[in-house]
Amino acid sequence: MTGVTPTTRLRIRAEALDGAHAATDLRDRFVLPSGVTYLDGNSLGALPVGVSEAVTDVVRRQWGTDLIASWNTADWWGAPTRVGDRIGALIGASAGQVVCGDSTTINLYKTVVAAARMRPGAGVVLTDPDSFPTDRYVTEAAAADAGIEVEYCPPDHAPARIAELGTNLALAAYSSVDYRTGELWDLPAITVAAHEVGALVCWDLCHSAGVLEVDLDAHEVDLAVGCGYKYLNGGPGAPAFLYVARRHLADFDQPLQGWNGHATPFAMSPDYTPAQGISRARVGTPPLLGMLALEAALAAYDGVSMAHVRARSLSLTAFFLECLADLEPDLVVATPRSEAHRGSQVSLRHPEAFGLVQALIARGVVGDFREPDIARFGFGPLYLTHADVLRAAEELHAVLAGNEHLRPEYSTRAAVT
Ligand SMILES: Cc1ncc(COP(=O)(O)O)c(C=O)c1O
Repeated sequence: MTGVTPTTRLRIRAEALDGAHAATDLRDRFVLPSGVTYLDGNSLGALPVGVSEAVTDVVRRQWGTDLIASWNTADWWGAPTRVGDRIGALIGASAGQVVCGDSTTINLYKTVVAAARMRPGAGVVLTDPDSFPTDRYVTEAAAADAGIEVEYCPPDHAPARIAELGTNLALAAYSSVDYRTGELWDLPAITVAAHEVGALVCWDLCHSAGVLEVDLDAHEVDLAVGCGYKYLNGGPGAPAFLYVARRHLADFDQPLQGWNGHATPFAMSPDYTPAQGISRARVGTPPLLGMLALEAALAAYDGVSMAHVRARSLSLTAFFLECLADLEPDLVVATPRSEAHRGSQVSLRHPEAFGLVQALIARGVVGDFREPDIARFGFGPLYLTHADVLRAAEELHAVLAGNEHLRPEYSTRAAVT
């Protein structure tokens, strides 16, 4: 379009893209403050409509009126597997293989120890040196407890290293999407490589559950973990989930033996016998307020296919990259431009990334900062439009044009960045 300013061109593009994706615009399933463009769904998802009411009902009626009876009448006891199945539907797991509960950290501990026990004689768990720190910390702790070694290898070199390790590999434990750069790693290739040497895989789905087609069953993944508070929108501190492929359930010997994972919990037996099925991954009494909030939040996905969610997510992130290329072509984009390698996030590297994010928040565009120089923008596909994306890019342009990111008031760090 000759004679048209970049802004006008991008506005026309945003309108056209929003028109083309109108069927997957689920903004009205969320409660978002006006004037805010929320690009932090990769840290804490937005509040879905109906969650407040559901939690109020849990507190007032199920707890306040029905009291202890709700363990049966509201099936509180069955919530971990019921909510697990609902999450499973979003990550390509058929029923009976996902349990909701604990945190990603704790679930990863269970899977690493269980994998070492399932592959006796193999001495190594392979993982990403740039994993989210908790993954490193807990993998080291679990490996030490299980008597195996941790070896670090970037995901793009993992298939070759897995082949070298051969039968000495017990487990390859990787994140499907890099939390800093938003890079989508090759889950099928790493999974196949691990299986070729008889090893297991565990995928951390924190940054993929709810935004892309993970297809755990189709790729014959062995184990997976992930959290409920990011793109699944379960709320702050929402419980996590754990997937164990059906073929491994009988052998899934996880180390945290608790009464909720017992075969007959109310027999009050002094000895531990694991439950049949995925319930053996349970530990203690689940945090029901959070779990039932997550269950209500998952209704935002009702009737939505993950293929459509992924298509919308890719369109949003691609359009953000297009806007940046037009408005701020010198910015360093840390996220791969190829769709096959991009999660639902765009990260920028900038020497003043912290100030940049703070200045944007002051303008109503909420992203976050990760050390050392990353400004992260996570795109919750259900509640964002291409018009939101353009607004974010325009505000970014305005911040940089006015050097707002250098203002002293934007350099103070709170406890959570
Ligand atoms: C890849 C990854 N794993 C794990 C976690 C957090 O684990 P937890 O839910 O135990 O705090 C995060 C949090 O951002 C993450 O990005």
